[in-house]
Amino acid sequence: MVALTPIYTSLIKYCRENNLRMHMPGHVGRGIFVPELREVASIDVTEVPGVDDLHLSQESIEEARLLLARAFGAKESFFLVNGATSGIHTLFMSLNKGGTKVLIPRNAHRSFFGGMVLSGANPVYIPCKADEELGIFLPAEVKDMLKLLDQNNEAEAVFITSPSYFGIACDIERFAKEVKKQNKLLFVDEAHGSHFSFHSSYPQPALQGGADAVVNSFHKTLPVLNQGACIHIGNGFNRREQLFSAYSLLTTTSPSYPLLASMDLARQFMVERGRELLERALNLSQEYKKKINRLRGLRCYGEDLQNFPGVTGVDPLKLLVSVKGLKIDGFKVSEILRCKYKVQVELQDKNFILAMVSMFHERKDWEKFYKALAEIAITYAGEKKESSTLELPPYPKVRLTPRDAFMAVKKKVRFEDCVGLVAGEIVTVYPPGIPCVLPGEMIEEEVFSYLKYLKRNNVKLQGPEDPSLNYIKVIE
Ligand SMILES: Cc1ncc(COP(=O)(O)O)c(C=O)c1O
Repeated sequence: MVALTPIYTSLIKYCRENNLRMHMPGHVGRGIFVPELREVASIDVTEVPGVDDLHLSQESIEEARLLLARAFGAKESFFLVNGATSGIHTLFMSLNKGGTKVLIPRNAHRSFFGGMVLSGANPVYIPCKADEELGIFLPAEVKDMLKLLDQNNEAEAVFITSPSYFGIACDIERFAKEVKKQNKLLFVDEAHGSHFSFHSSYPQPALQGGADAVVNSFHKTLPVLNQGACIHIGNGFNRREQLFSAYSLLTTTSPSYPLLASMDLARQFMVERGRELLERALNLSQEYKKKINRLRGLRCYGEDLQNFPGVTGVDPLKLLVSVKGLKIDGFKVSEILRCKYKVQVELQDKNFILAMVSMFHERKDWEKFYKALAEIAITYAGEKKESSTLELPPYPKVRLTPRDAFMAVKKKVRFEDCVGLVAGEIVTVYPPGIPCVLPGEMIEEEVFSYLKYLKRNNVKLQGPEDPSLNYIKVIE
């Protein structure tokens, strides 16, 4: 009989056998002395008989993969132990090599860049509009993709992001229909939407919409340890061999068994209780969004985002709250929430904060967040600020392909002197991880002003060798 949680079950069985562990890892189940990690160490083993091998799965991991695919309606699913990032790299590497073109949205996560450096693929950017009120990207639109496919008929795949970091989902069904008509592949970075498969009132899962392959970052929204993620392939995907060799190439030979077990347990948990907990979260979200909207100076975005072109769904678990009606900006609201109320949100910007709620948050958690916002709204009530200018990275001029730019010789220049030069390093605001400058792109006046804006606001930057941007690397 197949266990409901084959990976976890096999690990527990191995532990109970009480073997003398003369194998890796070196802690041998006993050498970790802090209680928080000691218990995890007991199931942190290696490919010993009985616990299967991620690279050649035949027993418990294979059974767990079948259960995973069934739970998500996939033709086949692959566990990832280095986040959705490695899944995105894998999908790029599964394409034909040698400068193949891939259409990607401009709001793609930085892992797309890694995928293109590794595979040699060249980006054709689908422009993304923005919500000018908040300054966030909206999803790519089918009509823009079609225009670009016309001009780039040799492109092999379209790789879009849905939902976005802000929980905004796009019309996968239409993307899939049009992409298939042209015999190309549709990949979807669904890092933020792993929970969609378990409740029909959430946006439609990309696989159901007809995507050929989908990457889920399980750890973002499911009860999974950090780094747990997955690739699902759909019925139309016929590059299984290329995909698996890329997957194996990019995957460690020492995957974490506790991490695999957490994905195995989460899948079973979601099958049994996901709907119920997502229903509770949805109801709480609807109730508290209304309450927050009654606070002066704050506005909680929700279904209204669906009025934007190309948007077909919004994740109720992403609470995007505009603070434009307060005297203080989002950076300050976030700081006050943390210091005074002990609430840490996911992201802040000038005009908004983004709180991620989970299906494990209870009414009292929502109430705590709401009460903190209510007090802040009273203390910092103010006239609505002048509509601030849209602060989003400008559209880039690409001078070198990602791989050529990555390999090129770089030099450091003073930040003030970088206008007109070609960027040699990635500059990403983290979170959300959408690059504003990629190696190989021209640093024009507009890009320079945007970087100055980030510096002024002390935004956390990933990528540059000097994160305070006193100097920046450019291509020689
Ligand atoms: C849209 C998007 N895609 C991919 C990723 C990468 O996911 P992971 O951190 O699991 O590698 C992220 C991470 O924030 C993301 O926001």
